[in-house]
Amino acid sequence: MPSNVFEMVDRYLATELSARALALAFACGWIDRLAAGDRLHAQALSELAQMPQGGAQAVLDLLSASRVVEKSGGYGLVPEFRQALEMRDLLEAKLWFANLVAPDVHEHFEALLTDVPRFMAHAKVFELFRYDRCFEVTPEHMELTRRWVSYTTTLTRYEAPAALARLDLNGHHSMLDVGGNSGEFARQACAGQPDLIATVYDLPAVCELGREHVANFAEGSRIKFQVGDLRGQELPSGHDIISFKSVLHDWPEDYAAAFLGKAVAALEPGGRLVIFERGTIRLDEAPLTYAMVPNLVFLPFFRDPGLYLDTLAGLGMTDIAVEWMELDMPFFLVTARKPAQ
Ligand SMILES: C[S@@+](CC[C@H](N)C(=O)[O-])C[C@H]1O[C@@H](n2cnc3c(N)ncnc32)[C@H](O)[C@@H]1O
Repeated sequence: MPSNVFEMVDRYLATELSARALALAFACGWIDRLAAGDRLHAQALSELAQMPQGGAQAVLDLLSASRVVEKSGGYGLVPEFRQALEMRDLLEAKLWFANLVAPDVHEHFEALLTDVPRFMAHAKVFELFRYDRCFEVTPEHMELTRRWVSYTTTLTRYEAPAALARLDLNGHHSMLDVGGNSGEFARQACAGQPDLIATVYDLPAVCELGREHVANFAEGSRIKFQVGDLRGQELPSGHDIISFKSVLHDWPEDYAAAFLGKAVAALEPGGRLVIFERGTIRLDEAPLTYAMVPNLVFLPFFRDPGLYLDTLAGLGMTDIAVEWMELDMPFFLVTARKPAQ
């Protein structure tokens, strides 16, 4: 995987118009046809999309401006876009999510900045991430949960390598990934460490989807799913590494601190605790393109690692370290060790 995947993908979401034109080009089959190597004239493309020629030409003009296609004879894909298409799942997931939640930023911008409960009551993004529909496994809940789990799985597919490259898993045998979703993070950890087994702890419908996901991979046989509610129960014991990836920001500070307390209690002596999260968005520094919209809707929720560092120190953890990395925005990796008894 190239090291700058997010840059390669996000450039096609530079503006809302370029992103919407690209989403349309995927939806009407243009990208598949052009990726197959065809060079096509505007008329053939408008027929393929069943679009009036003027509309098809407008989309082609937008795609030309954003360097998705170029015209030489007919239209063909620009070589750099072909490279970005190797991350097609990420590109399509980002387009889908940005276009879904852009109205939240358009319509509720003031609430996003000044009144989080009002933003949460109206924003579409919280209609998508409905954890309350994950407790009971019904066909309806599975379908609704699958929509966001496939998005988080795709993000994790590309985010996890940055964390795992910095985590030496040698000597670890058993991982617990709390809020581990489809198991993608645990799966990548297991793929890189042949004697590692993992437990993914999440809500019932999510675990069900996770079992389906990891079954597609050889290392899936080393991953089991444990259903549970972080708020109510002890975390399962017997693990020498416990991770929280993109989980703690969902929760108010007192909950996040309590979850860390449970994890430290459950962790084997000498084991390690890992937190991998987005940091706060610095609006004066971030590239505020349309590609940032999927992160902007979580603006009030992302926090810097201070709370976690203080909590872990208060819980008696040692070797506490934090490392920053730049993916589509700044992420941090906190690691800490539980003293061996
Ligand atoms: C933002 S997602 C992050 C998922 C995954 N770790 C990732 O990075 O893609 C938060 C996860 O926490 C899980 N979760 C939410 N509430 C929970 C609860 N009360 N107990 C256990 N897991 C919960 C969700 O189902 C979801 O998988």
